[in-house]
Amino acid sequence: MSSVAIKTEPEARPARDMTSAYSNRRTFAIISHPDAGKTTLTEKLLLTGGAIEMAGAVRAKGNKARAKSDWMEIEKNRGISVTSSVMTFEKDGINFNLLDTPGHSDFSEDTYRTLTAVDSAIMVIDAAKGIEGQTRKLFEICRLRDIPIITFVNKIDREGRDPFELLDEIEEQLALTVAPVIWPVGQGGLFKGCYDLAANDFISAKGAGTRHFEGGLDDPALRQTLGEDAYAAFRDSAELAAEGYAAFDPVAYRDGHLTPVIFGSALENFAVDRLMDFVATHAPEPRPQPSDKGPVDPSGDKVSGFVFKVQANMDPKHRDRVAFVRFCSGHFKRGMKLDHVRSGKAIAVSNPIYFVAQERSLTEEAYAGDVIGIPNHGTLQVGDTLTEGETFRFTGLPAFAPEVLRRVRLEDTMKMKQLRRGLEDLAQEGLVQVFRPTFGSDWIVGVVGPLQLDVLASRISGEYKADVTFEPVQYNVARWIRAESEVKLKQFIKDNTTQVVRDRDDRPVYLCRDEWDLRYIIERNKEISFDATREIV
Ligand code: G4P
Repeated sequence: MSSVAIKTEPEARPARDMTSAYSNRRTFAIISHPDAGKTTLTEKLLLTGGAIEMAGAVRAKGNKARAKSDWMEIEKNRGISVTSSVMTFEKDGINFNLLDTPGHSDFSEDTYRTLTAVDSAIMVIDAAKGIEGQTRKLFEICRLRDIPIITFVNKIDREGRDPFELLDEIEEQLALTVAPVIWPVGQGGLFKGCYDLAANDFISAKGAGTRHFEGGLDDPALRQTLGEDAYAAFRDSAELAAEGYAAFDPVAYRDGHLTPVIFGSALENFAVDRLMDFVATHAPEPRPQPSDKGPVDPSGDKVSGFVFKVQANMDPKHRDRVAFVRFCSGHFKRGMKLDHVRSGKAIAVSNPIYFVAQERSLTEEAYAGDVIGIPNHGTLQVGDTLTEGETFRFTGLPAFAPEVLRRVRLEDTMKMKQLRRGLEDLAQEGLVQVFRPTFGSDWIVGVVGPLQLDVLASRISGEYKADVTFEPVQYNVARWIRAESEVKLKQFIKDNTTQVVRDRDDRPVYLCRDEWDLRYIIERNKEISFDATREIV
């Protein structure tokens, strides 16, 4: 696996064409279960968009990393993941900002938060497997924010499940109306290509390009092209697809109630250009973003944005960090001073980074929908709002209750300071959540997936020079607690001191053994809310 060089002296990128304002932005993510083909599709989109010249260029970030050792290898090459956190490319006057969502189920927190920074998503489904666990989880996050979703049923070039069965599964499991728009002609060994049901274009799998059929499904030329048997089977299924399911409705799609479905193959590059056209034509431009003072409209002339991701220690020697900011309004120009609402201080953004495939360079300007990286030394945290002289705060960035809890044991007690620093930094980055018990001095850390613990130990050792191990605690469930009545909350905390810890922001968190215990305590404390998510402020 080769590491991608990060330019320390980025070359200045020329200012973008001033006429291309925010309405040309399409900021989106790909959600999928590992192995469904997200990396392959990303690569083909970048190829189609001219951002890379060769297949294989984004492969290094692929999720061949189920095994720990592989993951560590990827971790060493973290440069790759930062440059691919956002991939910007331009085609036919549309600026695509593709935000990477790490596919590994262990890193879902980061993934979830990335979804707060997009306006739409592509859901990739393996034609042989249908909806899988991680897809469903990510979909639920999209639904919380009514993010419109285009479904790409991938790997149609090989044996898979019946397309109708897949459509029904999406409709039933995700409670979404499905509208097939690109339909397969045969499948597996009999796969001949894809057919655009609205445009009446046949995209040949045999390398014969795309052909339009004026007469649609009844066009004799289509019969001739496909051959009698294939045509008969295709015609029946296409007719059923068109008549038995909803027609594409752009409004229902944008409202998040309907998903257009494209059958294709990322590997063979079938229907990927159609998918891209679809995003360009129908996916929403930057949408208003929620704030504590009401939605912020992208047409607003004052710059605003929020940090949805922080990546620390790109270069351990310099303790640098890159904060990823999604702009929500205004016209940002390099060198601008923006207000950091949390601290009330102004920060000059003199080195905004713009990402193209594996390169990063300086950008001169950005509009709503764009994502830039701001190098900083810890000022910017996930959830922070940047504005041009205003004091509102963007809302809705979630933190999730950890599913794995461990006590941190330091090998060398002299390294307490390093450990604290490391835990604070990595908690800010969102890799881990840190809890402080009422009694005792040992930290408790919480992660969403156990693999994060390996990463945590490796990074604390490598970047902060403190060796740690993790010990099981008797708790497996954590919930943020709150109550209408301050007195009731205080009483509950007092009655449960050993089980209440404090998070980084000093919020009380209740720990218990399992879901059964949780149900028991909820039942007996109706005035207390036990939250599995909380908003980052
Ligand atoms: P991921 O990022 O979602 O985890 O998936 P990735 O793109 O890495 O794809 C997972 C595997 O599926 C890869 O095979 C990839 O080549 C294959 N694949 C992706 N799209 C298609 C498709 O449209 N058709 C077919 N037939 N296969 C597809 P692999 O053997 O695991 O890796 P590799 O050796 O090909 O890199």
